[in-house]
Amino acid sequence: MTIHRRAMLAVFAASAATLAMPRLVRAQGTPKFIQPPLPYSDTALSPAIGQQTVQLHYGKHHAAYYANLNRLAQGKDYNDMSLIDVVKKASTIPADQAILNQAGQCYNHELYWDQFKPGGARAPAGALAAKIDSDLEGLAKTKEALIAAGNTVFGSGWAWLVQNGDGKLAITTTPGGNNPVGRGMTPLLGIDVWEHAYYLDFQNRRADHVKAVLDTLVNWDVVAARFKA
Ligand SMILES: [Fe+2]
Repeated sequence: MTIHRRAMLAVFAASAATLAMPRLVRAQGTPKFIQPPLPYSDTALSPAIGQQTVQLHYGKHHAAYYANLNRLAQGKDYNDMSLIDVVKKASTIPADQAILNQAGQCYNHELYWDQFKPGGARAPAGALAAKIDSDLEGLAKTKEALIAAGNTVFGSGWAWLVQNGDGKLAITTTPGGNNPVGRGMTPLLGIDVWEHAYYLDFQNRRADHVKAVLDTLVNWDVVAARFKA
């Protein structure tokens, strides 16, 4: 091969690599996990959850979990799974706690924002109401138990109304970004007790925040849709 021909081939290879690079960067940069839009305006939850809290909580905290999950899942099997399957699988693998933290918080907050959609029932009805009466001694006791559970979370975490594998309702908590699906439960209602959820509106009064959320924001039609009669 002549020097001239070798030089031409080198130029051609470099050009091809340069042309191919933007496509490669785009493919790697396509996010798999996408934050759903907020299903109402950022003032819709006021005064229990103020506008600034929603803007920061949804727009910064929740958004960041997707950015982190997309980065951590890239090139792994997790990237081809649904969000809930990522949470279930990562819950069984201690080495994947970093993935679980981000995926769990993506999923936790999807459940959280969705359950406050305006216009639904302000109290449970039908089969769900009957189950709350039989398993948890009624709505008032259920709210008390959720408030108490929220207070027992040390640091950051969640209080939940869940349905166990045997169909029974229960109140439980999860630390950090964990979700009850990791323990075989179905989450029906999730209360975020991370300080970012309430500190601007209620400062250190976590229980008052949880009570306000339960009394004024929960759409029990959404909760009922998660429940299996
Ligand atoms: Fe949160």
